[in-house]
Amino acid sequence: MEGAIINIITRTGVSFDLVKVMFHHVILYGDRMRKNVKNNVSWIGYMDWELEIFHGDEYSISNGSSQNAYLIEEGKTVLVDTVWTPHRSEFIENLKKEIDLKKIDIVIMNHGECDHSGSLAALMDEIPGTPIYCTASAVKSLEGQYGKKGWDFHTVKTGDSIDIGNGKKLVFVEMRMLHWPDSMATYMTGDNILFSNDAFGQHFAVEELFADLADQPTLWREAMKYYANILNPFSSVLQKKLKEIEGLNLDIDIIAPSHGAIWRKDPLQIVRTYAKWADSYKEDQVTVVYDTMWEGTAKIAHAISEEVHRQAPNTVVKVYNISKSDKNDVMTEVFKSKAIAVGSPTVVNSILSSVAGWLEMLTQLKFRGKKAAAFGCYGWSGESVKILQQKLADAGFEVCEENVRSNWNPEDEDFALVLAMVKSLLSGDGDAIVEDTASDNPAKYQCEVCGYVYDPEKGDPDSGIAPGTPFESIPDDWVCPICGVGKSDFKKM
Ligand code: FEO
Repeated sequence: MEGAIINIITRTGVSFDLVKVMFHHVILYGDRMRKNVKNNVSWIGYMDWELEIFHGDEYSISNGSSQNAYLIEEGKTVLVDTVWTPHRSEFIENLKKEIDLKKIDIVIMNHGECDHSGSLAALMDEIPGTPIYCTASAVKSLEGQYGKKGWDFHTVKTGDSIDIGNGKKLVFVEMRMLHWPDSMATYMTGDNILFSNDAFGQHFAVEELFADLADQPTLWREAMKYYANILNPFSSVLQKKLKEIEGLNLDIDIIAPSHGAIWRKDPLQIVRTYAKWADSYKEDQVTVVYDTMWEGTAKIAHAISEEVHRQAPNTVVKVYNISKSDKNDVMTEVFKSKAIAVGSPTVVNSILSSVAGWLEMLTQLKFRGKKAAAFGCYGWSGESVKILQQKLADAGFEVCEENVRSNWNPEDEDFALVLAMVKSLLSGDGDAIVEDTASDNPAKYQCEVCGYVYDPEKGDPDSGIAPGTPFESIPDDWVCPICGVGKSDFKKM
């Protein structure tokens, strides 16, 4: 290929870099254009085999991923979502190979996060004035990221629809907090396709496009990892949304998410699985997570593992040194577990940063209905076990009092404590801790979905709630001003 490049440079006088880019695009991406989904609906996204991390460094990618955009060519031509900013030029060039961009009548933005909206600004430069359909919240997120550009926004709510010709319609379904306030899904009648955006996706590159053609163990492992690490905090919203979608009585032949494989064979299998996962999911598994300085805490971790196996031979036990393991894969194991044990030695009156960082993520993911226990070695002050217990309680785990706190290296008496700790971990199914935070002053309440704090002193004047109104006195039909969930999703602070 190098010879061909030099030949072109000699004949045309264009720069070496430009020719390299041209070859890169032709050879690597030249065939990455549309794939048929059904009838006049095509996939026109970006198959990202090189992606390694996502959401900053918060999500590891092991099997590639995709940003799925869709082109609908009925009486009207509709583009559903775009792809991430780094791939915008390629996306638009590919789109141009398929259609005259000026033929696009409507752009649907199901969600404003830049992995789906990142090509929008470049696209709108080409077709300014094309109407963009999205939620009111998406206007905020799109203008927040790209500035007020005077785009022709048409805001929609659940049940709103637009006619796209040939007897078909697009019906919008708001999906607030699945996983942003602006998220929505779009349902296409006639072909019965639900463009679900992030919901029901996986970070998994499936060149064959469809879930039924994908490698099944990888597909389901990636779907679970995606749910556990991205959607689990919103499980209560999801449960209500699944009921709402069920109530709409939509015939769904295809679920086309914005990442990973498209569900066409028994598409509701992923909906049923989500219903199970959203209901405090757990399997008969215990996961031990730790880090160690001089192997003492590691010895306790392995003693716990052996003891679980001794007391409950059928229970699956997994052990991870968090400084050597993929944090998202470990979270997926926690998602599957009925109980976890977390260990750190004491270091400068605290715990190891590897464990502390992982616990921060554990708290964000809002696992419920699971038990936890703490362990660790210490030389003199020995605070780690108490700190771990508090952090695990804050993360919503039912924390066992039984623990293993070992001075210097674990001895026989410490290993004896493992027995009681494991017995406690294995007993019962675990319930979330509800803190008693009773106080004389009207309490603040926090939305468990988006984190908004209702402060009685301030009220919520925009929603007609006067300053000084206690949370308990707010009408039952009041909703969170950020994400729209009801009072039942708020927790006393
Ligand atoms: Fe795939 Fe929330 O973006």
